Amino acid sequence: MIKKAILPVAGLGTRFLPASKSIPKEMVTVVDRPAIEYVVREAVQAGIEQIILVTHASKASIENYFDRNFELETTLAQKNKTDLLKEITEILPAHVSVVSVRQPQPLGLGHAVLCAKSIIGNDDFAVLLPDVLVKEKSDQNDLACMIQRYEAAQAAQIMVEAVPDHMVDQYGIVDVAKSPAEGESIAMQGIVEKPAVGTAPSNLSVVGRYILPAKIMQLLEQTPKGAGNEIQLTDAIAMLQTTDVVEAYRMKGETFDCGSKLGYLKAVLHYGIAHPKLGHEFKQLIAELNVE
Ligand code: G1P
Repeated sequence: MIKKAILPVAGLGTRFLPASKSIPKEMVTVVDRPAIEYVVREAVQAGIEQIILVTHASKASIENYFDRNFELETTLAQKNKTDLLKEITEILPAHVSVVSVRQPQPLGLGHAVLCAKSIIGNDDFAVLLPDVLVKEKSDQNDLACMIQRYEAAQAAQIMVEAVPDHMVDQYGIVDVAKSPAEGESIAMQGIVEKPAVGTAPSNLSVVGRYILPAKIMQLLEQTPKGAGNEIQLTDAIAMLQTTDVVEAYRMKGETFDCGSKLGYLKAVLHYGIAHPKLGHEFKQLIAELNVE
């Protein structure tokens, strides 16, 4: 069973400056909660019980957010603010724990995942990149589908979605014989990190959700620096795929890249409209804007 998930949060968020100058980009608010809460919630809904943050000295507010805050809880209790108290104490269900490990140097995503090696041990695990929010389509959690498929097929799962051809150089891209239908997995023949436009094996991009076997850690230890002079998770997956079946899972839901400013604004609109308490009035506000 997949119960552990690595969330690499050590990146400095240069694409999100100036907002990320003194708060972690993962703590930037999407409607009424930090972006990272959506990602943790997605993982928990898929059955994850241990969240492993691979983090940096400047990111303590992420750990604080998932910790209890005795002073705040006492104050809210004294003032009988029970709804708020419930809200802040129920961010994480009781069976879910958050642990953290530091990434001492910014050597790439593959290196960040490797920093969690001793916590992963012999367990297979998920990786969720918190820049990307994945919004479910009709209550179907794509990560849960990937975990099910992983367990049935005993093959690593890489979540993908189609991107326009001119954007392939921003993503990991998979090589598959044919494009799987949404919600389905297909064995990959290869995977490359940020291929130049015109050289990509397909337009199916790596979204930032992975289900991987524990042994990928040994492969990461041998992975040389790749694209951007960084140790790439994509390169370790390419190595794994030479000995084991690795499958591309085509997602059903929708992605929002909160690492980019426009992607973030789009996320605020979509999650704002879908918010159970604020959604109705938010829609009215947008209608009143009457923009061209
Ligand atoms: C990372 C991965 C890439 C993936 C992307 C998704 O790149 O290396 O394969 O497609 O996340 O957001 P980054 O965006 O960190 O450069």
